[in-house]
Amino acid sequence: MKPVKGSWWPVLDAAELGRKPVGRVRFGEPLVFWRAASGVVCMPDRCPHRGAALSLGEVSPSGDALACPFHGLEFGSDGRCTLIPVEQDFAIPEDFGLPAYPVTEADGYIWLWRGPLPQGELPVPAQHPDTQPMQYGASGGLWHAHYTRCIENVCDFSHLPFVHKTTIGRFKKGWQTTIEMEDVAGGFRAHLLQDGRSHQSLEFLYPNRWLLRLNRRFMFGLVFVPVDDEHTWVYGRSWYDLPVPGLKWLMNGYTRLSQYLVFREDWPIVASQVPGDVLTATDEKLLPSDAPVLAYRKLHRSYY
Ligand code: FES
Ligand SMILES: [Fe+2]
Repeated sequence: MKPVKGSWWPVLDAAELGRKPVGRVRFGEPLVFWRAASGVVCMPDRCPHRGAALSLGEVSPSGDALACPFHGLEFGSDGRCTLIPVEQDFAIPEDFGLPAYPVTEADGYIWLWRGPLPQGELPVPAQHPDTQPMQYGASGGLWHAHYTRCIENVCDFSHLPFVHKTTIGRFKKGWQTTIEMEDVAGGFRAHLLQDGRSHQSLEFLYPNRWLLRLNRRFMFGLVFVPVDDEHTWVYGRSWYDLPVPGLKWLMNGYTRLSQYLVFREDWPIVASQVPGDVLTATDEKLLPSDAPVLAYRKLHRSYY
């Protein structure tokens, strides 16, 4: 389904993109990301000459072009073919190139614009104000499910005592979930109430960012990146506000381990949900405790 409204999607950790081009499948399409002198570029990862992966090629020393590894054809940051080394007298036709997709870098991510372009300039991706001054540990992992199901899973309080019996849901047997929803710019917050007080709060920012405030000094966030209809790459970050040297490495390990221990419990259940894309899940019977799921579906539907 194509979006009817455009938005920026963080799709790659900026730390993964150095001098070499990087190939990743996003939204079902193999893409190549590379750093030109003018900024990050994203194009289809397929040479129009004879189909080789451009991500196996090299960025020219000037940073103006990406060269295909097969016969050295070069493509500029606008996607146009600028050089055919073995046919220098050949007049390169206008359409001999690739589309260059709208892409930018912010908040340690590479962001891709999906959907119709707005009139005039593209907006700047909205960064999370609370995480800006904080350091973080990071990790990533693959979930075998449609990204909408993965997002809903982390917005769902009521699965904790069942799926996470031995980890984060351990002491939650028999609890009754009362949820209070709050609108925030670009998304929503969901508060889990116990004894009338907020016990835990999560935040979702459309299209794919999720955040849990553990306390004033720690926050945990996830970014759900669609790979294809059955796979989602999930970037995790643990932000911390403690001036301890070397803590970053510890937090990298903590982020990886906590994701693995908790999410391996979610994986088989989420992968089993039918259909994958929640836009087509029109016959499900949602409960009041599914309020955050409903809020996500409403927001998501407004873009499609
Ligand atoms: S396939 Fe890319 S230059 Fe030939
Ligand atoms: Fe879970």
